[in-house]
This record gives sequence, structure tokens and C-alpha cells, in this order.
Amino acid sequence: MGIMSKAIIVGAGGGFERVGITERPVPDPGFGEITVRLRASSLNYHDYAVVSGMWGPSEERIPMSDGAGEVTAVGPGVTEFAVGDAVVSTFFPTWLDGQPEVVGFATVPGDGVDGYAREAVTRPATAFTRAPSGWDHAEAATLTTAGLTAWRALFDDGKLKSGDTVLVQGSGGVSVFALQFAKMAGATVIATSSSDDKLARLEALGADHLINYRQDKAWGETARKLNGGRGVDHVIEVGGPGTLEQSMEATRVGGHISVIGILTGVAGALQVVPALIRQLRLQGVLVGSRRQQIDMIRAIDANGMRPVIDNRFPLDAIVDAFRHQESNRHFGKICLTM
Ligand SMILES: NC(=O)c1ccc[n+]([C@@H]2O[C@H](COP(=O)([O-])OP(=O)(O)OC[C@H]3O[C@@H](n4cnc5c(N)ncnc54)[C@H](OP(=O)(O)O)[C@@H]3O)[C@@H](O)[C@H]2O)c1
Repeated sequence: MGIMSKAIIVGAGGGFERVGITERPVPDPGFGEITVRLRASSLNYHDYAVVSGMWGPSEERIPMSDGAGEVTAVGPGVTEFAVGDAVVSTFFPTWLDGQPEVVGFATVPGDGVDGYAREAVTRPATAFTRAPSGWDHAEAATLTTAGLTAWRALFDDGKLKSGDTVLVQGSGGVSVFALQFAKMAGATVIATSSSDDKLARLEALGADHLINYRQDKAWGETARKLNGGRGVDHVIEVGGPGTLEQSMEATRVGGHISVIGILTGVAGALQVVPALIRQLRLQGVLVGSRRQQIDMIRAIDANGMRPVIDNRFPLDAIVDAFRHQESNRHFGKICLTM
């Protein structure tokens, strides 16, 4: 029989002027499915690209990749969850474990398929994991994209060890999580930002060294010097073409650069020689698997960390939330609640 749920939609091609409110049916859960009363989502640059029209959807779409809430019904065959459990969605509902196997965004909620800017949804139970103990739903919603990207980059790809040095760029969602996870694991963190105020906040979160990348154009070299001239072990590279050269400058011989973001654009001239000379490992990242999300939440539960939420907007104010993100005034995550 099911129920109806309020949902935000963005029209084909995207654009803030094409954002509207509608209703969608929420069927009763079938075999292996759960129904979730969604309570929160969180904004990522990728969601911004879909909703703003930068990479608008090919057809009308419910946006937002991140979703958290409580289980309200459980279908036959589901043993992992019970009614009342707090859960958080996964970025790749079909990549459960093992090596990366999904290309692009065709299966990703809020891009290739409908996402979580709505009040309720019925999905396979494997499209969710348990949320961290004691976190509210908005906190849990920060994990699907930003949290897991930072986690996978550092621990799965980077094999981060206590004592390693990590460079994080800026104070957005991915970078703040990377800072927190790196400190949790006993690493040294060099943080960059466009703003001294934000640098002070990064320091309060545990950053050991701070660089204002607006004032210091050779921030990569500065980061190297801060590490005794050796260079850092890992870079959380969210800038893309405009930052990669300095990221390579910062990295030690044989070090690891997680190629994550495109904040400065999607194409540029790649300096191949520094990568060869330093024998760098440039690893492309696209979020992570359900297994990695379960591992991350286990570590969060064991360490008691909390995410940094800049602001919470009601679901209906989704465009205001994206305008706030666009203004670059945020620090950490922006959330939606419903
Ligand atoms: N590949 C993946 O799996 C994956 C997953 C998530 C995100 N991403 C990508 O990673 C990037 C960041 O995403 P996000 O969600 O964390 O974004 P966000 O929360 O919107 O973060 C933006 C922040 O990045 C910083 N920034 C902007 N330009 C910069 C530059 N040139 N150098 C250094 N920092 C800069 C700014 O911090 P300050 O004001 O402090 O300078 C800004 O506030 C985006 O390109 C996104 O598409 C990729």
C-alpha cells in the first residue's frame, strides 16, 4: 500500500530556478528492503553541481546523495536492521565490498537515480548502513560522501600510519574529515585555507601546521619545509588542476596523493616530471564501498569523534543552503533536515 512522501525535485538540466516540491509514493518494503523516514541530508560539491545545473541531471531528479534517518518498516529477509534503527545511506548502493567496480555516477542517488531530498524512501537494506552511536541524523548524513571519501583516501588507499604527515586543502567537508581522521590515527596534519579565521578553527581541530594558500603561493614548498624538507606522506587533493603542482611539490619521494576534487576546474597542464622524479602515487578516488563505510563507522564509534557542521537548513530551504555553500563562507558540512 505504502505512503506518500514530500520530495524536492530538480528539473532536467538542473538550475536553482528548476527546483520544486512534489510528492512521491513510498511503497511497502519488499524482500530485502527497508523503509526509512529520512531526517537529514548533507551538501557536497557534487550535489551542488547537479542542482545548480553545472552537471544537471538528464531527467527530472530528486537530488542529494546523502541520507540519514530511522527505519520504519523492514521487508522479509532483512536481518541487519530493525524498526527504529538509525541508518545512513551509501554513495554506491551496488558497490558493497572489494575493489572499485563502479564507473561514474549512473547508480548514485541524487545523480543517476533519485536521491534523498525527501522525507521517506524504500530501498534495498544494502543501500544503508548503521549510523554511528549517539550521532544525530544530520551528523550521520555527513558520512555518505565527504566522510567516506576522506576515510577511504587515508586508510584504504593511503594505508595511513601513526606518525605520517597529511596535507589537507581548505576547510570543506572532505578536508575537515581528513584532518579529524588523520589526528584520530596519530598523524601530523598540515592544513591550508584561504582564510586566517578558518585556519584558527582548523588549528582548534588539531591541525599541527597552518598555511594560508592565498598569501603563500608556494604552499607546497612550505609544506615540504615544515616537514624537515622530506615532504608529506599523503595529500588530500581537492583543488585539482590549480593545486596539483604544489601538491606534488609538497609530497615525499614515493608519497601518496589522493586525487579527489576539482574545485579549480576539470582540466589543466599536468607536470609529469615531478611525479616521475619523486615516484609519486596519484590515486583517483570516487567515494568508497559499503564495507569501507562500515569500517569507518566502527572507527568513529571506537574513538568518539563528531563531525563539524557549519549550518543546518530545513529541506524546503535547499536552494538557500546551496547559496551558502557557493559563498564559500562555510567551514565543514552544511546539512538539510526534514
Ligand atoms: N572524488 C570523490 O570521491 C569526491 C568526494 C567528495 C568531494 N569531492 C570533491 O572534492 C572537492 C571538495 O568537496 P567538498 O564537498 O569538501 O567541498 P566543500 O565542502 O564545498 O569545500 C569547499 C572548500 O574547499 C576550499 N577550497 C576552495 N578552493 C580551493 C583551492 N583552490 N585550494 C584549496 N582549497 C580550496 C575552500 O576552503 P577555504 O575557504 O578554507 O580555503 C572551500 O570552503 C570538490 O571538488 C568535490 O567535487 C570528490
